[in-house]
Amino acid sequence: MAEAGEKTSSEAVPSEGFEFYAPERFTPEQMKERLASLENVLAGRRSVRHFSPNPVPMDVLESAIRIASSAPSGAHKQPWTFCIVTDPKLKASIREAAEREELISYTSRMSERWLADIKFTGTDHVKPFIEEAPALIIVFKRLYELDDQPAPTKAPNYYVPESVGIATGFLLVALQQAGLAALTHTPSPMNFLGKLLGRPENERAFLNIPVGWPASDAEVPIIRRKSMAEVMVKYPGSEEE
Ligand SMILES: Cc1cc2nc3c(=O)[nH]c(=O)nc-3n(C[C@H](O)[C@H](O)[C@H](O)COP(=O)(O)O)c2cc1C
Repeated sequence: MAEAGEKTSSEAVPSEGFEFYAPERFTPEQMKERLASLENVLAGRRSVRHFSPNPVPMDVLESAIRIASSAPSGAHKQPWTFCIVTDPKLKASIREAAEREELISYTSRMSERWLADIKFTGTDHVKPFIEEAPALIIVFKRLYELDDQPAPTKAPNYYVPESVGIATGFLLVALQQAGLAALTHTPSPMNFLGKLLGRPENERAFLNIPVGWPASDAEVPIIRRKSMAEVMVKYPGSEEE
């Protein structure tokens, strides 16, 4: 109850440039239920390297990108561009250029240790999924913005890799929620992607994300996830609780 003379929330006015923010609160049981449901969705996520050619509805991809673009970012600069590629010719050019780089990577750029570390994925420089996947979402990070006014200048962006990484995480969650499969593909160096897509000089390719449904005979390597004890540390520790 508001005291005499105190403004009730319906009369309160937010500060200049602000709005009140009071999202719904959940009971501990509701919180657990909601997280169990999300965990169930995400537990089914795997990196897929064999896609069925079925086209993905464009508005579904747009929704997923809208979700990605709602991510937090340094100074709210949203320093990202998501390019959707469905054109078979462009996908073929991307595959050709990616395989050229990947061949050099697999034969001379990657260390013996690195090659041993990815052996379980069964990958090599041949990347048919770039053409097989019905869509590629190619994520670009925007290193700076180009302002025209009052004179042409480079306006800085902040924490760009962190921001784009978080947005890409949102994207992967959204795609999984839609029942789609994806791969985070890094055909390093990735400069060829900016050139093939005609991206401006302030953008650098960040990830190639083939999206679609797994092929009927798609296989994924058997992996184990780290346990909670390996990834979480509590202060104070469990004894003191
Ligand atoms: C930043 C990043 C880069 C990756 N690059 C590649 C890649 O170039 N090629 C590939 O086949 N998988 C790539 N992966 C996929 C990982 O191999 C995969 O996430 C990991 O093996 C765990 O499997 P899961 O995604 O099915 O859980 C990459 C993943 C991340 C997060």
